[in-house]
Amino acid sequence: MAEFTLPKNSVLTEGKTFKAPADAKNIRRFEVYRWDPDSGENPRVDSYELDMDDCGPMVLDAILKIKNDIDSTLTFRRSCREGVCGSCAMNVNGKNTLACTKAIDSYPDTIKIYPLPHMSVVKDLVPDMTHFYAQYASIKPWIATQTPAPADTERLQSKEDRAKLDGLYECVLCACCSTSCPSYWWNSERYLGPAVLLQAYRWLADSRDENTGARLDELEDPFKLYRCHTIMNCTDTCPKGLNPAKAIAETKKLLVKRQ
Ligand code: SF4
Ligand code: SF4
Ligand code: FES
Repeated sequence: MAEFTLPKNSVLTEGKTFKAPADAKNIRRFEVYRWDPDSGENPRVDSYELDMDDCGPMVLDAILKIKNDIDSTLTFRRSCREGVCGSCAMNVNGKNTLACTKAIDSYPDTIKIYPLPHMSVVKDLVPDMTHFYAQYASIKPWIATQTPAPADTERLQSKEDRAKLDGLYECVLCACCSTSCPSYWWNSERYLGPAVLLQAYRWLADSRDENTGARLDELEDPFKLYRCHTIMNCTDTCPKGLNPAKAIAETKKLLVKRQ
């Protein structure tokens, strides 16, 4: 029988517990993934008991409370704290989401916070987004035109054509969808994943773009696009309520239509 030995730093250990203040009456417990690659230690899960009477209502508020008042070494990304920058994406109680738009009260009990799954971890809750951003750049996310720009106006769009971008332009590139997609877990080197494919369709759907043929040529690939097997995790998890699986299906339809 084959025997496998786990790498030394792959074992998740129990970490420290930080108790709530003695006079706290409204306590919630947060279990947070911690890993500092420079320490040489295994990853661990630290537990923090917070007094909810002295903490904001969102999961990001709890993380900030921990960082500011309890453990300044906790590392994570955030910027806007209102769901528009996409940087606070993480896995909360098993589902990828934006920590700043997720209410603590929407969870019944202990809240478990991990980095986005199946990504290399830089430190604690910070995933390495390098490959994800390179894939995004590969779809050329800007308007490409061949015809000269009108002399005295912008490139205009009818209201109907503008409406075709609804459900696409709102994507904040948080990667919650891609990192919830089993096809992306196993093939992220070659499969673009739902976030980047939704963005690719955003430009295919834009009436002002004149590069549709070349964009479709790029996507017509057994791995880049066709690794999507309509599992729908992406749509289920998107914290902005978008539907990447539909965008992927629309792209496949465009490819069939042009044959
Ligand atoms: S489609 Fe939704 S989950 Fe995916 S990157 Fe965009 S906002 Fe995030
Ligand atoms: S529908 Fe496609 S992109 Fe979305 S989770 Fe499933 S395989 Fe991934
Ligand atoms: S901090 Fe910007 S989306 Fe959460």
